Amino acid sequence: MSNLVIAVDGPAGAGKSTIAKIIAEKLNINYIDTGAMYRAITYKCLEKNIDINNEDEVTKVAKDTEIDFKDNNIYLDGQVLTDEIRTIEVSNNVSNVAKIKDVRYLMVDVQREIGKKNSVILDGRDIGSYVFPNADYKFFLVATPEERGKRRHIELIKKGYDITLDEIIKDIVRRDEIDSNREFAPLVKAEDAIEIDTTGKSINDVVNSVLSKINV
Ligand code: DC
Repeated sequence: MSNLVIAVDGPAGAGKSTIAKIIAEKLNINYIDTGAMYRAITYKCLEKNIDINNEDEVTKVAKDTEIDFKDNNIYLDGQVLTDEIRTIEVSNNVSNVAKIKDVRYLMVDVQREIGKKNSVILDGRDIGSYVFPNADYKFFLVATPEERGKRRHIELIKKGYDITLDEIIKDIVRRDEIDSNREFAPLVKAEDAIEIDTTGKSINDVVNSVLSKINV
């Protein structure tokens, strides 16, 4: 039997990673957080004081970088990454890294290689529309900016950040705008994707909606 590929796309904070992780566990398949890949490159550039707006320099860093996934964790040049790619600084810069076409080519290659060898659920922005146009299942999760902001606010406050809900909503809307309007492989719902509005829904409800569409 060929590998199962499930695409979960949507804007920031729509619940993609939470849902994808649970589905991966339930179906016993791999989970790939593709946003973490763009975050890892952003993190490395910031550490090296590379100007994020210098596309050539950022691409050079991406070419010199090895990204792997093991046990659903991301590794940057052999080192596991966790909270360091979830900082506000990385979040504020990542959309500008993710819009660089050559960086995307490199990340997409890694994603396609993983999908060739394994059954996998990937969350991102362009998985169903560009990376795996023939994915077995495609989901597009959405929620209002207020709801997405609230979820992110709870996460950041827990981590000790002093940031208002308003600031977070503004950042989410700004990121969506860059992600949706970039020239190459923007955030877009694939024509054949199933849209699920997660506003006001529990994690369990969304997981069940997704699972009800999957026959394995
Ligand atoms: O899902 P996230 O917030 O961790 O994603 C970080 C950034 O990476 C976000 O600005 C969109 C971008 N991204 C992308 O362009 N393509 C993907 N497949 C995944 C994420």
